[in-house]
Amino acid sequence: MDEYEDGERLQKTLARAGYGSRRACELLIDAGRVTVDGRVAKLGNRVDPDRSLICVDGIMAPTAPNNVYYLLNKPAGVVTTADDPQGRPTVLDLVTSSARIFPVGRLDMNTEGLLLLTNDGRMAHLLTHPSSGVDKEYLVRVQGDPTPGAIRRLREGIELEDGMTAPASVSRVSDGLLRIVIHEGRNRQVRRMCSAIGHEVIRLVRTRIGPIHDATLPPGSSRQLSLAEIRKLMDTVGVVDFSDTTMHP
Ligand code: URA
Repeated sequence: MDEYEDGERLQKTLARAGYGSRRACELLIDAGRVTVDGRVAKLGNRVDPDRSLICVDGIMAPTAPNNVYYLLNKPAGVVTTADDPQGRPTVLDLVTSSARIFPVGRLDMNTEGLLLLTNDGRMAHLLTHPSSGVDKEYLVRVQGDPTPGAIRRLREGIELEDGMTAPASVSRVSDGLLRIVIHEGRNRQVRRMCSAIGHEVIRLVRTRIGPIHDATLPPGSSRQLSLAEIRKLMDTVGVVDFSDTTMHP
């Protein structure tokens, strides 16, 4: 564990992140449930909330006060990049933040729906890592009405030019409208899957990212995630693998 003699007392950092009173956080530390940079913390430890990797029960805790997390309902026609050389509107034009945020993963220009933006590189890395298994749900309007057999093919895996897709959860909502849940994040994956069964996508909307959903967020609007949502997200990406040195920038 890095020693931060001038750092903040660990229980104060944990209390600010929503783990209860300072006293309750002392009990968590005393019970050996808190690690800092991979080592079990002790009462009296001080941390740098911006740099120390703090976990409770093996799950990363949202302790860095300068980390921000936004949820944007991206409209069609906006590109998911921090800077577009062609000068098109970008998702960053839609989120007002003084922090240097960036999008987590990407949605195609014509895809709508939920997109996370953050300045937390560690979290973004975990969320986009193929092994994170965070599922993403899409509502997909396609041409025609896929048969049960075509839907089964989507479910079981489709051969695309970059290999088979993993099993997906697919249901028919109504005539020509599918709900597809995937946990891979390949380029234009949903569009290519539907195209492979002969049903081009007419409209694609992401409605959920792991535990995060919000049907009331208007297109083009964004909001910060609540502490409860951040913790759910961290819970979803799961136990931090300390052997992965890329998590210790
Ligand atoms: N799948 C796609 O085809 N496009 C997206 O933007 C997201 C998932």
